[in-house]
Amino acid sequence: MNKFTQNGSSHALFAVCLPGLAPVLRREMVELRLALAGPEDNGGVMFSGKTEDIYRANLQLRSASRILLRLGSFYAGGFPELKRKVRRLPWADMLTPKTHFELRVTCHKSRLYHSGAVAERVADAIHQQCGAQPVPAGSSADDEGGASQLIVVRLLRDHCTVSIDTSGEGLHRRGYRQATAKAPLRETLAAAMLLAAGWDDRAPLLDPFCGSGTIAIEAALLARHLAPGLQRRFAFMDWPDFRSDLWETLLAEAQAAARTDVPPIQASDRDAGAIDAAIANAERAGVGDAIDFSCRAFSAIEPLPGPGWIVTNPPYGKRVSEGQDLRNLYAKLGQVLRSQCPGWRFGVLCGERELFGYSGLQVNDSMAWDNGGIKVWFQKGTI
Ligand SMILES: C[S@@+](CC[C@H](N)C(=O)[O-])C[C@H]1O[C@@H](n2cnc3c(N)ncnc32)[C@H](O)[C@@H]1O
Repeated sequence: MNKFTQNGSSHALFAVCLPGLAPVLRREMVELRLALAGPEDNGGVMFSGKTEDIYRANLQLRSASRILLRLGSFYAGGFPELKRKVRRLPWADMLTPKTHFELRVTCHKSRLYHSGAVAERVADAIHQQCGAQPVPAGSSADDEGGASQLIVVRLLRDHCTVSIDTSGEGLHRRGYRQATAKAPLRETLAAAMLLAAGWDDRAPLLDPFCGSGTIAIEAALLARHLAPGLQRRFAFMDWPDFRSDLWETLLAEAQAAARTDVPPIQASDRDAGAIDAAIANAERAGVGDAIDFSCRAFSAIEPLPGPGWIVTNPPYGKRVSEGQDLRNLYAKLGQVLRSQCPGWRFGVLCGERELFGYSGLQVNDSMAWDNGGIKVWFQKGTI
């Protein structure tokens, strides 16, 4: 067994997340007992761990976008040195001659400043060492018919860091969401909203703008202790050193941890097509029985006895209802929640803090996040 698969050896790892979510991700990692290895930065959290931890992080983390394994970190002042040092990395543990790999290269303040030229040299070095093929420019790895593998190279002040992606498709792709409504949230962001809102997964939860149901489905997965990665594959499963015995054990443990009881979760939207999509998604996620979906305007909500939590993502004018004046919607939302849900806590994702101000709801905490390049605000408080 090589050094990358021995369960005893420790690897340098990085859990990537959407900008702004690192504090939420960090808390999840502490709960999972992953060994943090430094402060979070805006885009993720460093940690160290064994092969088992790579598998667990992919299977269990709800707010991470992907998990990177650092293969090497070295000085590279010129191309010959770069190629020589890249060739020394243990590529054959993860790649075969059938693998097609994709390079993501960034260069800052370095002598090797041209990312295209760096990618070309790194691709040559990897191919020479293990026979794997770079994906030709303009096509995707899947078109090439082999396993696709992302490799991330960063040059900063002549220091090169090479990492390999262990996740494959982004971790927001849980596998359940095939039907979408307008402006669906990433599953990782929906899970982060629930975690950041402090929902205790025992009290009632309501999403009155549920669209394709992402928040409610993530809530049901959370309440049932269902690991978000149970239904999907990961890049590490295609590596020659994949330990299927270890994976099967972790999967069985994750399945055994599932609970059947869930608190009431209500989700509604005025769009009937969105509700159909949400129901189909919840069925695929295996939580169709845990969510009460209904087609209605938010002004007609009928919350169950609480207090509970409202976690939601109303239209925020940048993708849904673009150009429309949403001030009335937020003012009405404030009125409805004050009359129907006194004492409930809220966590609302919105595009502009000023717009949320029209609700008249008092905000105790406000976090700035990034949703697909759009700056968004997560506003928390008690009604
Ligand atoms: C930003 S989307 C929510 C997306 C959702 N979180 C998801 O992941 O798919 C906002 C939703 O609010 C719904 N909506 C807009 N006005 C509404 C109203 N007055 N009452 C109820 N739903 C409304 C839209 O149909 C849309 O699905």
